[in-house]
Amino acid sequence: MERSPVPFPVHRDDPLHPPAEYAALLDGPPTRVRTPDGAEHWMVSRLADVRAVLADPRFSADDTHPNFPNLLPLPTVPGALSFLRMDDPEHARLRRTLTAEFTVRRVGRMRPEITETVDALLDEMAGQGPPADLVAAFALPLPSLVICRLLGVPYADHDFFQERSAESLRLDVTRDEALAAFAELAAYLDGLVADKEREPTDDLLGRVARRVRSGELGHEEAVAMARLLLLAGHETTANMIGLGTYALLRHPDELARLRADPALVRPAVEELLRYLTIVHRGTQRVAREPVEVGGVTIGAGEGVVVALAAADRDPGAFAEPGAFDPSRPPGHHVAFGFGAHQCIGQTLARLEMEIAFARMLERLPGLALACAPEDVVFRDSVVYGVETLPVTWSGET
Ligand code: HEM
Repeated sequence: MERSPVPFPVHRDDPLHPPAEYAALLDGPPTRVRTPDGAEHWMVSRLADVRAVLADPRFSADDTHPNFPNLLPLPTVPGALSFLRMDDPEHARLRRTLTAEFTVRRVGRMRPEITETVDALLDEMAGQGPPADLVAAFALPLPSLVICRLLGVPYADHDFFQERSAESLRLDVTRDEALAAFAELAAYLDGLVADKEREPTDDLLGRVARRVRSGELGHEEAVAMARLLLLAGHETTANMIGLGTYALLRHPDELARLRADPALVRPAVEELLRYLTIVHRGTQRVAREPVEVGGVTIGAGEGVVVALAAADRDPGAFAEPGAFDPSRPPGHHVAFGFGAHQCIGQTLARLEMEIAFARMLERLPGLALACAPEDVVFRDSVVYGVETLPVTWSGET
């Protein structure tokens, strides 16, 4: 029996407490949902159903399919996000060219450099404050600096690409503004990759450009990959650092425990990923053939909204899912997705967060919000975050 669709649930005012619409869905079977464009799709929200969909190649990630759900109130550009929105074998062919860049060992070698960058940003912030805006001074520049260095994108251009990428992901701009920002970012990266094809540099995009020269990749494929990495690589991590700091400051007991025992920072990062699940709108798939999921049959060609944030608070999978509890056993959250498209940058994102939180707590004793919690402005974009985070502290080491 077809039920009437529920409205698509998104965080609104308070990222620590998802909207009431979620509650009914958290441990329920797949249900019909109405997305912001008025279309109807399936939505899966239990952790087991989410993992089942994301691991099943009968579900396609191809966003050029007419039924691919749009989770935003704006039209999107199909095909813009390279292999994130492709199926195997094309997805695997492109993703494989990058896997060596993101291994635990390779990313681990970036630790000294990331620590140095974190310390330099904290030096600068401490030189100017307290108070300071933690987003502008720390959460945003850190992942930008790291991804620029990794990809070989001049950091001097960061204002340009940060503005364009933020604007192409924002929800409060017109379709034309979003498309113009995206086109400018695309043109910039096209030129950068073309330069590297002429003269390959010793960085990730330089290595990708070498593959274009050898005929293994097309120029357009390389540019689309650069776009995906730049967009996925800084906005997400920046929002996790900003929003993660907010969540820690709202949990003073946990914060005190972290200060006393830095070994707890790693499990705290894992719990923040689950608790905040900043890809809060989730992801999308289309069934290629009829598939049974959680007791319902999803028909061929039907769209599926994969509610990552709901799955990460599924009471059937996590005890007291609404509690922030870094001591919970390491779990199986889906903040980085699951299956073939699971985040390729997760080791890097974890390392950046771990160093950022550890050094921030060590060096800024008494770190606290410099405004009332209700005055913090959250950002409802493709990923969830804080717009600005005014903080103060009592000393500096
Ligand atoms: C894929 C989240 C950081 C690059 C994904 C997906 C999620 C995600 C949920 C899967 C989407 C889907 O299945 O449709 C996050 C979060 C991050 C983060 C929460 C930070 C805390 C990064 C970083 C990079 C990156 C630092 C690159 C340096 C990618 C790429 C994909 C991806 C290339 C596509 C993988 C594929 O389709 O095979 N990410 N990400 N991400 N992420 Fe991340």
